[in-house]
Parts: sequence; structure tokens; C-alpha cells
Amino acid sequence: MKQIAVFASGNGSNFAAIHAATINKVIDAEVALLICDNPDAYAIHRAAEFGIECFAFKPKMFASKVDYETEIVARLNQLDPDLIVLAGYMRILGHTMLDAFGGRIINIHPSLLPDFKGKDAIGQAIASKAPRIGVSIHYVDEGMDTGTIIAQSGFAVDGSESRAEIECRVHEIEHQLYPQTIAMLLEKETSV
Ligand code: GAR
Repeated sequence: MKQIAVFASGNGSNFAAIHAATINKVIDAEVALLICDNPDAYAIHRAAEFGIECFAFKPKMFASKVDYETEIVARLNQLDPDLIVLAGYMRILGHTMLDAFGGRIINIHPSLLPDFKGKDAIGQAIASKAPRIGVSIHYVDEGMDTGTIIAQSGFAVDGSESRAEIECRVHEIEHQLYPQTIAMLLEKETSV
């Protein structure tokens, strides 16, 4: 069975959607580990409910990013995951993670990249009156939301929608597109 490790920092709704897709066999793999950089995150409760092992840490308890990423790499090496999935993980990965797992790490971002990288992408899109809003899934490199794009999906907006409505649509897309993309990447890997 293929193994997925998910990274999250907050609510974990994408983590839950990915887990559900493994249970429903949309994704032919199991989520074997959650890595969380916020011990108060709701994602941790979800992991407990799903029976998924969780490594939660506070970055401030480590001397440096290299130190906490070294710990994460050690935990991931025990698993040897086929895919590492960042799902609302609000940190830039350092060279320790990228040297160990580069090419096997993907991220989801709530904008149609290359537009609106970084924090509050939905707020940035609304403020700049973008005519389309959406979601991108991309490989992770050393930049912020800069890696090769794998999949995108969006919808037109005309300024009449509330932020809550837009967020709701973005999440709906994410919860479909991320599991589908993960399934596609893992199938591709099998058929090579
Ligand atoms: C998602 O909308 C994801 O695209 C975004 O955080 C949210 C996490 O929601 N990620 C970023 O903004 C990364 N730059 P979730 O915790 O409910 O899955």
C-alpha cells in the first residue's frame, strides 16, 4: 500500500478530504502520518479521530528550522512516503526537507498561480478585483508558491460575492481537486 504524509497547520479540512478519498478508494493509498506545526490545530483532533499517527511540534521549541526539519525527516524516513502533501501548512520548506524529499512534495494554494502568492491569497484576489478566483496545486520548491503547477481550477467572480461565499467555493474545489490530483500522481508513478 502506498503511503502519504500530510502537513497541516490549522483546520485540516483538506487533510480530511484526502483521508476520506483514501477510505473511498478514490486514492489508492493510505494517509499514514500527519505533521503539524501547531499543537492547538483542529487537524490534530481529526488525526486522532481517523486513527492516523501525528507528529505535532512547536517550531519555537527547536533552535532552528534545520533542527525541526531534521526531526521531521527522521519521522518521514521511517515511513518512506510515496507523496508528501502540504495541506494548509503555513511554512516555507527549508533545504533539509527539500534535499530529502524534493520532487515528492506538493502543495495547494488558494489562488490561480502565479497570481497572489503568499498569505491571504483570497483577500489579495478580492482586493485586486480579479475576474477569476481559484485553486492551484503545485510541486514545492524553495520559493513561496513558485513550483511547477500540476493542476488548477477556478470560477468567475463579478464583485457581488461575499468573501464567505468565495471561501466556500474555493474549499469545495480544493476538496475535489486535491484528492483527484493525488490519485493521478500516484497512478502515474505506478505506471512508469
Ligand atoms: C486552504 O485553503 C489552503 O489552500 C490554504 O490554507 C487552507 C487550509 O485549509 N493554503 C495556503 O494558503 C498556503 N499558502 P484547511 O486547513 O481547512 O485544509
